[in-house]
Amino acid sequence: MPKLIPTVFWMILYVHVHCDSDFPFWEFDEAPIRISPTRNEDLVYRLPGNVVPLDYNIYLDLYFAERTDRPFSYDGRTNVIIQAVQENVTQIVLHANVDRINSVSLYASDASPFPLVATDPFTIDPQYHFLRINLLKSLVSGDNYTLIIDYSSTMNEGPMKRGIWRGWYTDEDNNMRIYATTHFQPYNARQAFPCWDEPLYKATFKLHISRSTNYSATFSNTGVETFELFEDRTVEHFKATPPMSTYLVTFLVSETFKVIASDSSFNPPIRIIARSNTEGLGDHALELAVGMTKFFDEYFDMPYESLHPNLYNDHVSSPDWASAGTENWGMVSYRELYMIIDPRETIMSVEHYATTLISHELAHKWFGNLVTCFWWSNTWINEGFASYFGYIAAHEVFPKYELDEHFNSRYLQTSLSTDSGGSQPMNYDVNTPSQITGHFGTISYSKGAAFLRMTVDIITPDTFQKACKIFLENNRFQPVDQYDLYDAFAQAIAEDDSLREYSQFNFTEYYRVWVNEPGYPILNVDINHSSGEISLSQERFFLSPTASPTGQVYPIPITYSTKSDRRFRELKPIYMMSTEKAVLQKPANEEWVIFNHLQHGHYRVNYDDRTWDLIAEALLNEPDTIDHLNRAQIADDVFALMRSERMTYHKGFQILRFLRNEDNYHVWTVAISGYTWLRNRLRHLPEKQATFDAFILNYMEHIIETVGFEPSNNEGPTTSLTRQEVLQFACNLGHKQCTEDSIRRFNSMKINEWVDPRIRRNVYMTGVREGTSEDYMFLLNRFQSSNFANDQLEMLRGLAATKDPELLTHYLNLTLEKEIRSHDKSTSFSYALLGNKENANTALQFLKNNIDAIRETYVEDSPANPVQSVMSNLASYLDEPELVDYENWLSTTQRNSLQYSSTINAINSARNNMAWGTANADTILSAARDGVTTIVASALILMVTTLLALII
Ligand SMILES: *[C@@H]1O[C@H](CO)[C@@H](O)[C@H](O)[C@H]1NC(C)=O
Ligand SMILES: *[C@@H]1O[C@H](CO)[C@@H](O)[C@H](O)[C@H]1NC(C)=O
Ligand SMILES: *[C@@H]1O[C@H](CO)[C@@H](O)[C@H](O)[C@H]1NC(C)=O
Ligand SMILES: *[C@@H]1O[C@H](CO)[C@@H](O)[C@H](O)[C@H]1NC(C)=O
Ligand SMILES: *[C@@H]1O[C@H](CO)[C@@H](O)[C@H](O)[C@H]1NC(C)=O
Ligand SMILES: [Zn+2]
Repeated sequence: MPKLIPTVFWMILYVHVHCDSDFPFWEFDEAPIRISPTRNEDLVYRLPGNVVPLDYNIYLDLYFAERTDRPFSYDGRTNVIIQAVQENVTQIVLHANVDRINSVSLYASDASPFPLVATDPFTIDPQYHFLRINLLKSLVSGDNYTLIIDYSSTMNEGPMKRGIWRGWYTDEDNNMRIYATTHFQPYNARQAFPCWDEPLYKATFKLHISRSTNYSATFSNTGVETFELFEDRTVEHFKATPPMSTYLVTFLVSETFKVIASDSSFNPPIRIIARSNTEGLGDHALELAVGMTKFFDEYFDMPYESLHPNLYNDHVSSPDWASAGTENWGMVSYRELYMIIDPRETIMSVEHYATTLISHELAHKWFGNLVTCFWWSNTWINEGFASYFGYIAAHEVFPKYELDEHFNSRYLQTSLSTDSGGSQPMNYDVNTPSQITGHFGTISYSKGAAFLRMTVDIITPDTFQKACKIFLENNRFQPVDQYDLYDAFAQAIAEDDSLREYSQFNFTEYYRVWVNEPGYPILNVDINHSSGEISLSQERFFLSPTASPTGQVYPIPITYSTKSDRRFRELKPIYMMSTEKAVLQKPANEEWVIFNHLQHGHYRVNYDDRTWDLIAEALLNEPDTIDHLNRAQIADDVFALMRSERMTYHKGFQILRFLRNEDNYHVWTVAISGYTWLRNRLRHLPEKQATFDAFILNYMEHIIETVGFEPSNNEGPTTSLTRQEVLQFACNLGHKQCTEDSIRRFNSMKINEWVDPRIRRNVYMTGVREGTSEDYMFLLNRFQSSNFANDQLEMLRGLAATKDPELLTHYLNLTLEKEIRSHDKSTSFSYALLGNKENANTALQFLKNNIDAIRETYVEDSPANPVQSVMSNLASYLDEPELVDYENWLSTTQRNSLQYSSTINAINSARNNMAWGTANADTILSAARDGVTTIVASALILMVTTLLALII
C-alpha cells in the first residue's frame, strides 16, 4: 500500500541552475546575474573600433616543470597585421591580460619602424585589460601595419580561470601526467596573447608552438604545416585558421594524449582525442560526432569540409574543463565525463546529455563560429541556435533519446521559471566581464532555444531551414546582430509566403517583442460552455503575487484541443494573438479545452473554474486522452499558478490528483520539482514536512511500481531516466523498499558484482547513507581506482550522503585536495547538503574552519563564482540557530569578503522561505489531505460506474 516520503528536487534544481557543474548545460556555468535594473549604456570596457586586426601570427614557448626558474610559464609574441579604419588614429588600443609586456614595436608596410612616443610607448590599463600603444603620428587609414608585442606570462593551475591552464591525468601505467590547453570563451584569449578580444574582430591566426620534445604532438584547430626539431625543443607551425573570433583559438599540449577513435571516411577525418588510458572508449562519442556532422552538412546545405580547407574536426576529452564543452572551431573540447561513455559504467543522464552536448557544439561550427554574434549582448544568437539544434537536430539522428520531448523540461520550463521575475531580455546590453558571464545563462540558452522552436511552429520547419541557410550564406565569416537574423527570417518568410494564414499578424513586431522585451505572458482562458465562446486575455506573468502589471502585449501562437477534437500534435498555430484580448468560437459543448499544444509556446495558461474542473476530471479519469506533454504542461502551470496566488492550493492539488496514476517522465519531473519547492519551505517544521512527505510518497507509489528497481536490457533511455529521478527522490525521502533494495545492491557491489549504472545513483547514496564507515571507505577506494569520470561523480554524490559528521568532514576535506577536480569542487560541496538534512551543520562548520583554503582551492576569482554559490547555497539548508551562527561568523570575520553581501541576502531569503512555510503550512497540508480524500471518492465513483457499465 502507498507509503509516503519527502523530496529533494528543488534542491536539485537549485543546484543545477546555480552551481551543479555535473549538469552544466552551458559552455558557461551560470553565474547569478548582477546587473542593475537601469541599463548601463557605458561602453568603457569596449575597444574603440578605430583599428582592426587582419592576420595574427602567435608564437608561444611553453614550459612545464622543466624550466626550473619559471615553471609553468610561457613567453609569447603576437605579430599582427592591422589597419586603421578611421583617420587620425594616434593610439592603438587592444586587450592584454598577461603578466608582463616586454616590448612593443610597429612597422609600416615597407617594413620601416613606425615611431612610438619614446617616453611612454605603451600603457597598461588593468581594470579594462587594455594595452594602449602611443604613436608619435597618425596611422594612414587603410594601410597595413605590423604590430609586434613580446610578453611573458604564467599558466593557470586548473581550468577555472581559463586562458592557458594546466591539468593532470593518469596514464595507462598509473603515472601522473601533465597537459596544458586553452579555454578562451568569452574574454580569455587576452590572457594568452595580446589581441582584439571581442567577437566582432575576426581575423586569421597562425600558431607557432614550441614545447619540450618529449611531449606528444600538439593539437589545434588546424594541422601542422611544418615543424622544427631542436635538441630538447620542438616548434610546430600550424596552418592558418579561417577568419574567426579570438575566443575560438585553441591548442592542447600533453605528455601522452592521443587519437582514441576516428572516422577517416570524412575529410577532414572526425577524431576523438583523449588521455592515453581511455583508448578504446571513444566510440560512442565518435558515433555522435559523425552522426551530427552528416546531419548538419545536409541541413545547412553547406558541408563542414567546404567551410575552410585547413579546419580539423577534432573533439577533445579533457579531464578538467570549466564548463561542459566549448566549441573551438576545429578542436572542440569537452569535460571528460561526456566523452568517455560506456553503457556498462555510465549513468543514463550523462549519456543522454552527451548527445545534446555534442550536437550543440557541432551546431556552433556554423552558428557561432562561421557566423558570430557581434557582441555578447547578442549571445543568444550563438547559444539559442546551438541549444535548439542540440536537441532538435540530435533528435532527428538519435530518436531513441526522445530529445524533442526532453526539450520541454530542459529549456522551455527552465526559461518559464527564470523569466518570471526581474529578468533581462534576450538582447541585452552588457559591458563588464561579469555582465558578459551573467548573460551566458538561461535567457540566452533556454529562452533563445524556446523562442526559436516557437518560431519554427509559426513559419514551418521548411521556412526555418531556409532562413538558416540564407543567414549563414549571407554572413559567412562575419559578425552579426539581431537585424541580420531578422532579415534572413523575413526573406525566407516572404519567399515561402509562410504567414499567409495569419492576416493580422506582424512578424516584425513578434520578433521585436520576444527578442527585446523581458518576460512572457499568461493566457487567461474563459469559456462560455453553453455558447462555445472562448474569451482570451493576456498579461505579463510574474511569480510574485505582488508584481504590478506592465501592459506589455506579446504576440502569442494559439493552439488548442478539446475533448471532442484532440489534435495535440498539431503545432502550427490556428491564430496569432497580437492583442490584449481576443475571442474564439468553438462548438457549444460542455467539455475540457486545453491550450498550448505540447507546451511549445513560451507562455502559461489559466482557465475559468469550470474548465479547470473539466480538465481535472479528464486527467483523473481518462488521462490518456490528454497528451503526456500537455499533462506535464498543466502540472508545470499549476505549480506556478499556485505560487503566484492565481490559484489556491486547494484547487491546484485537486487538479494534481491525477499524479497518483501517472507514470510519464515529463509529468513526474515537473511534479518532483514542484513538490520539492514546497517541501523545502517546510524544512524547519519537521512534523509538517513529514506529513507532506507522506502525501507525496503516497502519490509516488504507482510510478515506483511501474519503473521498478531493475533496468531491463532493451528499455528506452526515457524509462531509465524516469527510474533514476524517481528512485533518487524516493530513496532520499526514505521509501522503505527503495532503501532496502539499494542497500542489497550496494552489498552485492562490495562482493564485486556488477550493478547497472542506470541505478547506481540511489545505490551509492543509500548504501553510504545507511551504511558504516567501512561502506564509506569501500566507495572511496572505488572512486580512487575508477577510470570513468562520470561514475566517479556519482560516487562523490554517494560519499556525500554519509550521515556521520566525521566522515562527512573527511569527504569535505577531499574537496580541498587535488583528487576532486576544481570543476567538481563546489558541486561536491552541494552534494553534502543534498545528502541528508543533518549534513548542513557539518558543512557550515567545515566552511567556517576552512574558508581560506576553500577560497584558494575552489578558485574564488573564477568567472563561475564557485565560492559565492557555495556560501549562498548553504544558507537555504540551515535552520534558525544555524543561520544566527552563520550570520555572526560572517559579520565578525567576513565583512570585507567578496561574498559578504550575497550571503547575507541568501540568509534573508532563507528566513523569508521559512516564514512563508510557517504561514502557508496548514493551507498546503489541508489542500494535500483534501486531495487524498477526493482520490478515494472518485475511485469509488469510478468503480460504481464500471459496475454499472457491466450490468448494462
Ligand atoms: C584629421 O586631422 C586633420 C588635421 O588635424 C583634420 O583636418 C581632419 O579633419 C581630421 N580628420 C578627422 C576625420 O577627424
Ligand atoms: C594587408 O594585409 C592583409 C592580410 O594579411 C592582406 O590580405 C592584404 O593584401 C594586405 N594589403 C596590402 C595593401 O598589402
Ligand atoms: C619529459 O621530460 C621531462 C623533463 O626531463 C620529464 O620530467 C618528463 O617525464 C618527460 N616526459 C615524457 C613524456 O617523457
Ligand atoms: C509591424 O511592427 C513594426 C514594429 O515592430 C512596425 O514598425 C511596423 O509598422 C508594423 N507593420 C505594420 C504593417 O503594422
Ligand atoms: C580534515 O582536515 C583537517 C585539516 O587538515 C584535519 O585537521 C582533520 O583531521 C580532517 N578531518 C578528517 C575527518 O579527516
Ligand atoms: Zn554553446
